[in-house]
Amino acid sequence: MKIPDEFGLRKGWIYEVIVTAAGNAAPMGILTRDSESIEMEIYKGSKTCEIILDKRRFVINFVDDIDIFYNSIFEKEKIELEGNHLKNANAFIEMEVDGEEDLGDRVQVNAVPLAFVIIKVPRPVNRAESLVLESLIASTKIPHVCAEERKFLEKKIQDNLRVVKKVAPGSRFERILEKL
Ligand SMILES: Cc1cc2nc3c(=O)[nH]c(=O)nc-3n(C[C@H](O)[C@H](O)[C@H](O)COP(=O)(O)O)c2cc1C
Repeated sequence: MKIPDEFGLRKGWIYEVIVTAAGNAAPMGILTRDSESIEMEIYKGSKTCEIILDKRRFVINFVDDIDIFYNSIFEKEKIELEGNHLKNANAFIEMEVDGEEDLGDRVQVNAVPLAFVIIKVPRPVNRAESLVLESLIASTKIPHVCAEERKFLEKKIQDNLRVVKKVAPGSRFERILEKL
C-alpha cells in the first residue's frame, strides 16, 4: 500500500507525529523515502521502542495541537485514545514493522502502512518553517547587539541550517537559511 499524497509527506523530509502503540503515546519523527514505507529512529529505553519491537504494530497520528505533543511526553494521562489511535488525530496510518536495525543508542525501525483514515487533511509538522522564522528574527537582531550576543545568534542560525538540512533537504527553507 502507498501512503496517499493527501498526507503531504515529501520524500526524505522528517515529520513530527504522535506514535501510539499498545495504549502508549509519544512524539516521534518519521521519514518516507518512497511513499511505501516509513523509517523512525527510536531511542532504546523508551516505552515506544520496547512496545513496537514486541508488538510489531503501531499507529502514526497526525495532529496540529502542540498540547498533544506536550501531554504525550509529560502528562500521558491526558492523552485520549480511540482504539489504537488518538481521539484528536486529523489523520492516522496503521503500520506494521517489517525490519529494524541496531544503531547503538537507537533502533531504526522500518514499517509499512496497512490502512489509513483521514478525518481532516493533515498539514504534517516539519521543523524547517519555524526554524527559518527563528533564524530571520535572529538575523535582524544581529546589527543591534554586542559582539558576544552576535556570536551567539550566528551560531544559532548555523545550527538551524544544520537541522533544516536534515529535516527538509533540498527545500526552499534550506535555500533561505543558506542566504542568511
Ligand atoms: C517533536 C518530537 C519528536 C521526537 N522524535 C523522537 C524520535 O524520532 N525518536 C525518539 O526516540 N524520541 C523522539 N522524541 C522523544 C520522545 O517522544 C520522548 O523521549 C518520549 O518521552 C518517549 O516516550 P515513551 O517512553 O512513552 O516512548 C521526540 C520528541 C518530540 C517532542
